[in-house]
Amino acid sequence: PPSDPDLVARAAVAKAKLGQRVFVLGHHYQRDEVIQFADVTGDSFKLAREAAARPDAEYIVFCGVHFMAESADILTTDAQQVVLPDLAAGCSMADMAALSQVEAAWEVLTDAGVAEMTVPVTYMNSSADIKGFVGRNGGVVCTSSNAKRALTWAFERGQRVLFLPDQHLGRNTAVLEMGFDLDDCVLYDPHKPGGGLTAQQLREAKMILWRGHCSVHGRFTLDSVNEVRMRVPGVNVLVHPECRHEVVTAADRVGSTEYIIKTIEAAPAGSAWAIGTELNLVRRLALAHPDKEIMFLDRAVCYCSTMNRIDLPHLVWALEELVAGRVPNQIAVDPSTARHARTALDQMLALP
Ligand code: 13P
Ligand code: SF4
Repeated sequence: PPSDPDLVARAAVAKAKLGQRVFVLGHHYQRDEVIQFADVTGDSFKLAREAAARPDAEYIVFCGVHFMAESADILTTDAQQVVLPDLAAGCSMADMAALSQVEAAWEVLTDAGVAEMTVPVTYMNSSADIKGFVGRNGGVVCTSSNAKRALTWAFERGQRVLFLPDQHLGRNTAVLEMGFDLDDCVLYDPHKPGGGLTAQQLREAKMILWRGHCSVHGRFTLDSVNEVRMRVPGVNVLVHPECRHEVVTAADRVGSTEYIIKTIEAAPAGSAWAIGTELNLVRRLALAHPDKEIMFLDRAVCYCSTMNRIDLPHLVWALEELVAGRVPNQIAVDPSTARHARTALDQMLALP
């Protein structure tokens, strides 16, 4: 539905009053009504870099989810304040790895004699606590656009990787981009004693994958791919690496949200694309490219419900609070966690 014109006008007025003091970042999964007010849009990696590159903005309003706003807080100066327009905008995948569980897993690895040669790597989609753990233990953060480079860096420093918290990004990168076998990967289940693995399995593994996943991307199946190929001959299947291994294996292209956008922009007129990622982005691409046939990979619709929590009323509220001199919903990571998390984030930003 079109945005409420009254709210659009209020957002524009508040943003104009704040001027250069505010910088609005928008993740590609955000609603159109929010994206229209973003100073920059991007995937997780681009948004982290953009946040770090705006030291003059007093306020960073992050239209995305909690872990992204935490990373922005860690990467910005102490004088800057990061605002998340709705504090309930979390990420179910990030919630699948709690610090206490990861510390317990590290003890399991230590008891099995493998922690020393294991490098922890965490997907950006994790809490600041987890990034802090990874920073303290010589690891690195990655996003869907640099996972191969992060794993290559990690394997130059150790024999195996503990990959948090998305099993699919870890497995897809290791097997499809690094040439590992599926058997090189084991699944660590934080709800089972010892992760459900023997010491020998841990010793033999190259990739210890945390049992986490994205419920939005988990809805795409091999059937979705086969069905669209039957229905639309010649269709190109383009998916995000958070999809299951069999879906990514059956797809034609795989990459981050930014990669997905660039691929569609470069595609020839008349080509057909079935896209396996969040629906706000797929719909925006379909509207922007009427000369191409762009469809959602599955028949069932699938928004990320937490991304969708940031809507125009929340954005207007946040901007008007800032105009009134109050800082609403500030995301502030405690300094000790932030220091270690920054080590792992800086390491990511420095990857070749
Ligand atoms: P990108 O880094 O590809 O934008 O992905 C972030 C995300 O949360 C995907 O679910
Ligand atoms: Fe988290 Fe999945 Fe939503 Fe991305 S799409 S923010 S991984 S729940």
